[in-house]
Order: sequence, then C-alpha cells, then structure tokens
Amino acid sequence: SRIYREGLFGRRPRVPVEPRALEQAARRRLSPRAWAYLAGGAGQQRTDAANRAAFDDFPIVPRMLVDVSTRDLSVELFGRTLPAPLLFAPVGALELAHPRADLELAEGVRELGLPVVISTQGSAPLEDTAAALGDCPRWFQLYWSSNDDLVDSLVRRAEAAGCDALMVTLDTHTLGWRTLDLDLGSLPFTRAEGIAQYVSDPVFRRLVEERVAHPATPAEPTPRPTRAAVAAALSMARHWPGPVRANLRSPLPRAAVETFLDVFSRPSLTWEHLGRLRELTRMPLVLKGIQHPEDARRAVDLGMDGIVVSNHGGRQVDGAIASLRALPAVLGQVAGAVPVLFDSGIRSGADVYKALALGADAVLIGRPWVFGLAVGGGSGARAVMEYLLAELDLTMALTGVRAIAEIRSGSESPSS
Ligand code: FNR
Repeated sequence: SRIYREGLFGRRPRVPVEPRALEQAARRRLSPRAWAYLAGGAGQQRTDAANRAAFDDFPIVPRMLVDVSTRDLSVELFGRTLPAPLLFAPVGALELAHPRADLELAEGVRELGLPVVISTQGSAPLEDTAAALGDCPRWFQLYWSSNDDLVDSLVRRAEAAGCDALMVTLDTHTLGWRTLDLDLGSLPFTRAEGIAQYVSDPVFRRLVEERVAHPATPAEPTPRPTRAAVAAALSMARHWPGPVRANLRSPLPRAAVETFLDVFSRPSLTWEHLGRLRELTRMPLVLKGIQHPEDARRAVDLGMDGIVVSNHGGRQVDGAIASLRALPAVLGQVAGAVPVLFDSGIRSGADVYKALALGADAVLIGRPWVFGLAVGGGSGARAVMEYLLAELDLTMALTGVRAIAEIRSGSESPSS
C-alpha cells in the first residue's frame, strides 16, 4: 500500500515496476557484455522465452465475497518460518551487475528476511556475504567440484556461516551454449567475476599454488589476453590475500583461472554420489534443476530433503520444457513427500501466485532482482522483491485468498 500511496502523490519509482521496463532500464545501465551474461539464455533463447510464456497457459479464476481484510504470506520451510515463500535464487558473477556485487545485495535486502541463496560462483567470500546478511536467513548453493577436498571445504564453510540448507545445482556441470556471450568473446566464468568465492577457499588456493610450482606444458599456445581479460585478472587479484595483491604480474591469477576450469564441476556425477553428500553434512539437501518426474522420485527415494524444479532460467538446454509446464508432473510424483520449490520465468507477483497455485511450496527469483541491483543497487534489488510481494498480496486479496496454503486449495478451477 505504501507503493500505491507514493504513486497517488505522483512520485515515480526509481526502479521501474513494470517487468519489461525494468529489463530495459537494466539494459541501458549495463555494458553489452554484462547484459549478455545476465539476461541471456542458451541457444536461440527458446526455453528462456517459453519459461515466461508458460504462465499464460495457467489463468487465475478469482473468487468473490471472502473476507480478505487480513492476509498472511508466511510459510514454514525446513523448520523455519519465512515472511513469504520467496527466495533469492543463487546468481554468480554479480560483479557484472554491481561493483559491490553480493555485499551490495546482502546489505540491501537483509531486512526483508527472505532467504538469500549464496552462489558457489559468488563474487565475494561467502563469509563476507553471510556477515553482511546479519540475521537474514541464508542458504548455500553448491556446484559439485571434481575435487573432493574442495567440496568438503565449501560445505564446511557454508555450515560455519550459518547456512540453513545446501542447494546442489545439477543442471550446470557444463556451461550451456551461451550464444550472446560467445558472440562477444566473453565467458565470465573464465574471468574474474565469479571466481572470488573459489579464491577465498584454502583448498582452492593450495591447488593454484601447486599449479604455479609445477606448470603443465600447455597443449596449445596461450592466446594474448584481451584488455578486458587483463582487467579481469587484476580485479581477481584483489581477492587474493597477501603477496599476490602486491605483485599483479604474478602468474597466480592465470593459474587460478586454469584451476577454476579444472575444478568447477564434475560432469561424471551420478545419483550414487549423493550418499556421500548426505554423510558430509546435516544441512537439509535440496537438488536444483529437476525437470523430469522420475528424477524427482529418485531424489526423494535417496533421502533428499527438497527439490527445485528449475531449468536455470533457460540458460542451459535451449528447447527444454518450460519449467512451469514441468511442475505438475513432478508434483504428481512427490507432492507432500518433500518441499518442492520452483524457478525460471517468474516476472511478477501474479506469476508467483500461479506457481504456488500449481503446488510449489516456495519460489526462487532470479533475473528480476538482478536487474533491480543493476538499476538501483541493493535498494533496487529490494524494491523489486517488494513489488513481487505487494502484487502477490494484492492478487491474494483480489482472488479471495487469506493465506498461502489457500492459494493452492482454491485453485481448482471449474474449467481445468
Ligand atoms: C543464474 N543461476 C544460477 N544458478 C545456480 O545454481 N548457481 C549460479 O551461480 C547461478 N548463476 C546465475 C547467474 C545469472 C546471471 C542468472 C540469470 C542465473 C540460475 C538461477 O539460480 C535461477 O535458476 C534462474 O535465474 C531462474 O530463472 P529466472 O528467474 O532468471 O527466469
């Protein structure tokens, strides 16, 4: 209602409310390279578009004459009460959106009390992000490294930083065919942004130092780095403690990038590995990137604590099923067994409502708050999340719903 009242007095919001206007405002703010990485999808971006279009196929049927004068958006998730069923999706390389990256986000949004999922690909050490979050709940997202010691170390650090859950992303053991990035000759994962998290890890640093001490003969001659690559290497050196900062010509930044490429993921990962993770931590384990109902079933059978129905915002498999379309069949397999979270394509509070009506227990928001961060810093990211909450609340009121659980039970429409 505050947002409305300000509008009534002619105050225009600094961060646009209308989703396409927000996207355009971010685009104007960002370099072509940053825009390509942050907004882009895989291939012809068909799945990215389909993710959003799928919301058109599930209309809301409002109910009348329900007393909606008070409404409650809170939910329980893994034993904790959350103010609303929304989380900040893990997003790496945030330096592309804002120079203060994860720290700017954390300081800007912590008062909302919605969980922030810290990415393995973070642009700040997770301890710093966690400290900046204060009392705000945080989860950790893991890219399962090919190096067991690094996995152990990241999980230990996440526990020590007070993370409530471990979200393991399954759909990105190899980076998708990112056409927009490729055409600009820029793949941020091989540059500085998104490596800071690794550089802050003692196991990773040991691996880099071993590589410097015993350099392998390169199979191909190393191309001369572009100016952007040099700038990125310098920016990465910032995160390296001690002598490296003083010696920017050190071979360490390059070795760090090479080491990162080696240990980023483990394409050989299979269901058999999950047992080891279960032994590694008592944090609830949530598998992100599930689209097939049989994979959902398998996750539950192996004792996972939750899943995220997600296709990484259409950034991995171009032509993959729209995430919202995948949701009903997954719920058909595992609804009620474990919390089922959803993401990919949500752009409005009405979209959040639809995902909850189909049966999701909570949703993750990706690009919208990233655009808010680009346009208005931490308070911009916060504003975008507040718009989603306000529209969700309003949609509940206008459809005769007083609590999140009622969204689902009231959604059996006569025509469906
Ligand atoms: C992501 N996503 C992601 N996921 C993950 O598990 N770890 C990560 O580091 C990242 N990094 C990342 C960077 C950027 C720029 C984007 C846009 C996305 C995927 C993210 O968590 C989420 O699944 C999608 O963003 C959801 O789709 P929407 O909301 O962006 O359509």
